[in-house]
Amino acid sequence: MWRNINLQNAKAQKNDEFYTQLPDIEKELKHYKQHFKNKTVYCNCDDPYESNFFKYFAMNFNFLWLKKLIATSYSPSPIAHTQLNLFWDKKSYKLEINEVYDVNGDWAEDLADVKYLLESGKWKNKVSLLEWDWDFRSEECIEILKNVDIVITNPPFSLFREYLAQLIKYDKNFLILWNMNAIPYKEVFPLIRDNKVWTWYGFNMSMVYKTAYPNLLEANRKFVIWKWYNPDEWYVKVPAICWFTNLDIKKRHEDLIMYRKYNSDDYPHYDNYDAIDVDKISEIPLDYDWVMGVPITFLDKYNPNQFELLWIWTWDSAKELWIQKNYRWRTDLAYTKNWKSSCPFSRILIRRKK
Ligand SMILES: C[S@@+](CC[C@H](N)C(=O)[O-])C[C@H]1O[C@@H](n2cnc3c(N)ncnc32)[C@H](O)[C@@H]1O
Repeated sequence: MWRNINLQNAKAQKNDEFYTQLPDIEKELKHYKQHFKNKTVYCNCDDPYESNFFKYFAMNFNFLWLKKLIATSYSPSPIAHTQLNLFWDKKSYKLEINEVYDVNGDWAEDLADVKYLLESGKWKNKVSLLEWDWDFRSEECIEILKNVDIVITNPPFSLFREYLAQLIKYDKNFLILWNMNAIPYKEVFPLIRDNKVWTWYGFNMSMVYKTAYPNLLEANRKFVIWKWYNPDEWYVKVPAICWFTNLDIKKRHEDLIMYRKYNSDDYPHYDNYDAIDVDKISEIPLDYDWVMGVPITFLDKYNPNQFELLWIWTWDSAKELWIQKNYRWRTDLAYTKNWKSSCPFSRILIRRKK
């Protein structure tokens, strides 16, 4: 759907090593502080010490009033044990942070303190090597999952469906990064439609990740340089990234301001479905009470008190929606304007509630 060569290659080859940068984590997480007080956060696809998710929560442990931070690594990961080397055996391990102090007396509670607390082994923080390879689906990881409050990570690109299904099954709060192409998945869109998952604040972002793979694409390299990273140090741009969450946030309750009025010239009716087409989110008419097809980026403005999400158009859903065949003898939504027929790209069907 979104042209995304790096991500497609990653999925096809199961190359999941894309590491999120600290500024991107900080930019999103500043909106969620109220959710962390006395909570246990679990990063379950994160080489404990090397992950910037771990670092963010370890450094902000007291600022966020966290109760506990747990991170578990996955044995095939190439970066595990590279920044904190506690074991001769390079297996998967679990870090559990229960307290962070200014142990070195530099007036800051930072990573140097966290490292010292872990290496000295004297404090309440725990490091343990475990038998299994810490797949997020393993019994051991699921046991941890059952006892935590919030899961936060960037999960493997190749396993997103399973990853999200597991969080829903165990009824966990979460904040995870993934690509917009997950939105139409039949395992994902119904959760968005039923208000069990939503996408904010960072939406449709082009992000730079550190990877385990060389960046050989010229345009991609230019973007990486423009963002002040070095593509020769294996940084790549991945477009259309979103945060998926079920943590409530203010933006989700803000109304979209509408100012346009409906007229049949500007808002063509689909030829093969009972709805009108709205080409831009800013042009959603304030007085049209029936179904409207809008670009998928509408999700960035979606307030469930103001709109109802009905469905997303995909090949799979065409049957369910009873979409008729269009002028191309296919089932994507189509309209005819000035005797010219066309199929708008990637629509989501919505209806106004108020
Ligand atoms: C997209 S990377 C993100 C890494 C880290 N969360 C971050 O954001 O920097 C996904 C990570 O999941 C790990 N991984 C792959 N399959 C896994 C699995 N089945 N269980 C747990 N982790 C897995 C990979 O080793 C990889 O480091």
